[in-house]
Amino acid sequence: MPDLIPPPLSLYVHLPWCVRKCPYCDFNSHGARGELPFDDYVAALVRDLEHDLPLVWGRTVHSVFFGGGTPSLFPAAAIEAILSAASARLRFAPDAEITLEANPGTAEHDRFEGYRAAGVNRISFGIQSFDDGCLQRLGRIHDSREAEAAVKLAQDAGFDNLNLDLMYALPGQDLAMAERDLERAFALQPAHISHYQLTLEPNTVFYARPPQGIPDDDLAWDIQEHCQALLAGAGYGHYETSAYARPGRQCAHNLNYWRYGDYLGIGAGAHGKITLGAEQAILRRWKHKHPATWMAAAGTDQAIGGNDRIAPAQRPFEYMLNALRLHEGFALADFEVRTGLPRARIAAALEQARANGWLQVDDVRVAPTALGRRFANDVISLFL
Ligand SMILES: C[S@@+](CC[C@H](N)C(=O)[O-])C[C@H]1O[C@@H](n2cnc3c(N)ncnc32)[C@H](O)[C@@H]1O
Ligand code: SF4
Repeated sequence: MPDLIPPPLSLYVHLPWCVRKCPYCDFNSHGARGELPFDDYVAALVRDLEHDLPLVWGRTVHSVFFGGGTPSLFPAAAIEAILSAASARLRFAPDAEITLEANPGTAEHDRFEGYRAAGVNRISFGIQSFDDGCLQRLGRIHDSREAEAAVKLAQDAGFDNLNLDLMYALPGQDLAMAERDLERAFALQPAHISHYQLTLEPNTVFYARPPQGIPDDDLAWDIQEHCQALLAGAGYGHYETSAYARPGRQCAHNLNYWRYGDYLGIGAGAHGKITLGAEQAILRRWKHKHPATWMAAAGTDQAIGGNDRIAPAQRPFEYMLNALRLHEGFALADFEVRTGLPRARIAAALEQARANGWLQVDDVRVAPTALGRRFANDVISLFL
């Protein structure tokens, strides 16, 4: 059996509030009512981090991601306090990527300068669309003009590493509208674009009452194909199911997830995955979801929603679920050190997927073919 070798480590920080809840969103996010307890939340994050530290003694953090919710609701001083507390307790790589998610409806100039001064070096904007009708139907708090202005504010504050989140197959959207959204994104010259198909998630308003005019599967496929071509033409390399980047601008934090790297997750509902070298185990740990419950318990075992050890038999499926999202696929040597299993364990499934035309396999690497990407669920289920 190969040894499990701890992979690069990332830190995820969950900030759970939004101005108001969007009707399509099933993230652990909560509409803000009244004043938000920023200081108490930051103090709870520090306690949560301290409680998790024994899992990662001596390891270096390669990326940090402030996700939400809407992290840009937090003042820069709060982000600065979290980053200084984290860097006092963990070794940060000098080139660590530090991303903060922002909603264009919460943008102020001073705030971006403050985030930069705090050490944030990448902003990920939830744009969704540049069409004001689509934005309204999505229940967004900003219009397209505010979205463009917010991106420019961040650029003026010195951020050159920006991601724009766009969604497609939106209520009332046709192909030309989806293409126009991309053209308006290109005009802002972001380093990275995430292009997600709108999905109706259980436990959302859209799921209970689907809006009129959602494109059918054929139109959604058409939009996806045309948009992929536009993105490629504009110099954005398609490197993961929904992620496109200029050369050298792939998201290091998400890449680490997809490569089955490790991450600590702090904050309400945050998930972590940590390889414990000494025990030759992989631990998943998640925190209580509700902000008030989590805050009250942070720093104690009561804040932990659960701990799960990933049995060796589950690891091939988990690994494939992540690694096969990447166009580059993975190296068989990485599969071995990150799952602690010999490649022989997946040889039969790999051969089956290769014979079906789903995977390209050689002695060193495995990568999904275009067909394999289209039938991703079938490919992954071979490894169950
Ligand atoms: C946590 S949100 C990020 C930023 C911020 N909260 C905002 O919305 O402006 C992450 C992204 O996931 C995408 N997303 C959320 N719900 C989705 C859904 N139901 N289907 C597809 N994409 C979704 C959106 O593009 C969103 O920007
Ligand atoms: S999409 Fe973003 S802003 Fe809307 S509720 Fe979800 S996390 Fe909040």
